[in-house]
Amino acid sequence: MAKDLLSQEKFAKLDEAIAKFKGTNGALMPVLHEGQHLFGFLPLEVQKHISNGLNIPMAEIYGVVTFYSQFSLEPKGEYHIGVCLGTACYVRGAQALIDIISRDLSIEVNKTSDDGKFSLEATRCIGACGLAPVLTVNEDVYGRLVEADIPGILEKYQG
Ligand code: FES
Repeated sequence: MAKDLLSQEKFAKLDEAIAKFKGTNGALMPVLHEGQHLFGFLPLEVQKHISNGLNIPMAEIYGVVTFYSQFSLEPKGEYHIGVCLGTACYVRGAQALIDIISRDLSIEVNKTSDDGKFSLEATRCIGACGLAPVLTVNEDVYGRLVEADIPGILEKYQG
C-alpha cells in the first residue's frame, strides 16, 4: 500500500478528531467521516486506530463502515462511479449497466482501476427512484439510462 495513503500526518489529524469527539454521544460517525475524508477510504488499519482511540469494538466499527455507502474499504478513484442496485433500478436493468461499465473499464465492482482513475460501486437506493436506473459519477447524477448511454458517459471522464 502506498505510504502517502496512510501517512502519519493523516493519523495525527485523525487523532485530533478522536480527541474532539471522544466521550460524546454518537462520536463514531463524525470520526469515521473525518477518516474517510482524510484517507479517502477506511482500511482496517484506520478502523483499528479509531477502535483504540474511541474504545469501540472493531466489530461495531466494521459493521458501520460496511453498512453506509459513504464509507469505503478501498481507495476511491478520481472518478467514483456508483450504480444503484436498489429495487427500482434493478428491475429497470441496472445490473446490465454495471456489467457494461465493469467490462469497459476493466474493473470489478468495489474495486479501483490500476491507474486510480475510476472506481466502481454498486449502491443501495440513492432516493432517485423516479429516474431509475440511476448512476452517479462523483457529484453528477445520470438517470433513465439505457445500455447505449454508458459509453458516452464514460467518455466524458476518460479524456
Ligand atoms: S432504487 Fe435506485 S434510486 Fe431508488
